Amino acid sequence: MPELLCVRNLKVSLRDPPTGREGWVLRGVDLRMEAGERVALVGESGCGKSVTALSILRLLPRPPMEISSGQIEFKGRDLGNLTREQWLEIRGREIGMVFQEPISSLNPVMPIGEQIAETLRNHSGLSTGEIRARTLSLLAQVGLPDPPRLLSQYPHQLSGGMCQRAMIAMAVACGPSFLIADEPTTALDVTVQTQILDLLFRMTEEQRLAVLLITHNLMIVRGHADRVVILYLGLVVEEGVPGEIFRHPQHPYTEGLLAALPEVSHKGRPLYNIPGVVPSPFEDLKGCAFADRCPRVERKCRESAPPLLETRKGHQARCFYPSGK
Ligand SMILES: Nc1ncnc2c1ncn2[C@@H]1O[C@H](COP(=O)(O)OP(=O)(O)O)[C@@H](O)[C@H]1O
Ligand SMILES: [Mg+2]
Repeated sequence: MPELLCVRNLKVSLRDPPTGREGWVLRGVDLRMEAGERVALVGESGCGKSVTALSILRLLPRPPMEISSGQIEFKGRDLGNLTREQWLEIRGREIGMVFQEPISSLNPVMPIGEQIAETLRNHSGLSTGEIRARTLSLLAQVGLPDPPRLLSQYPHQLSGGMCQRAMIAMAVACGPSFLIADEPTTALDVTVQTQILDLLFRMTEEQRLAVLLITHNLMIVRGHADRVVILYLGLVVEEGVPGEIFRHPQHPYTEGLLAALPEVSHKGRPLYNIPGVVPSPFEDLKGCAFADRCPRVERKCRESAPPLLETRKGHQARCFYPSGK
């Protein structure tokens, strides 16, 4: 399959204006995706998942952040030096986006149908009649009831789940080949979460759409991803197909994330939590960023940073002492 996205050694710095200190939010992220591939990017809050997405889309808050090195290619094209117009075109037509809070991503003063129609007007070259027909068909495709009525309904008149469906309709309106979904279901309740994920993945299958699904919840990755990439403090620490990640986790961080899943423990509540917290981007790290929280830490881990190495077939981990199981 042709390569759709190739992120190489991406580093993003963060400046703290009061002190002038420089920190690192991404410390050298590598991420490759093939056309039509569904990749889940997983890690605790603060690991740099959103910053990775925003870097790809060139939407980083600058300042305080800056891409300091690395390369991002989309369909073989370097995204490093595009004009503003080229970016508007890429973000509107080629890469769709769905974010955590549909309510804040949708325009509150414009009817839902009109927002989708506007996207089509800006990017598709369809006639007014065709735009109306396509808007109605998109609303139906994402499972929203009574599409004609939605042409005049506002976001506040819809539930969170329905707004997220509308966001998905908008994101896929112009037939992108790549969708970035950053915690698309985190704000929704559990049953609606599953419905939205199922919808998302049905859409990606029907449209041969690649998706980068960003989540802090490993559980929702099951059945919804071809490959899992685990991020810890701005570095990929483990990568593999879901079966491998779930059955043979190699990195102690991934083992901790799995042990903390409510389903493997008691009454829907985790029995285990990884001790400690994700270090701050300003921390001066010599060794492995996970060392302070790691049950298998050795002296070596504090002295030098482990490389990402293949530990099982098609399965990589950034650890001096992978489980090896
Ligand atoms: N606008 C911002 N200004 C300063 N720091 C930020 C900003 N956005 C994110 N950060 C910091 O960057 C790091 C990565 O954040 P983020 O990518 O949002 O994490 P995630 O999406 O994995 O929860 C965190 O330490 C966070 O505090
Ligand atoms: Mg985030």
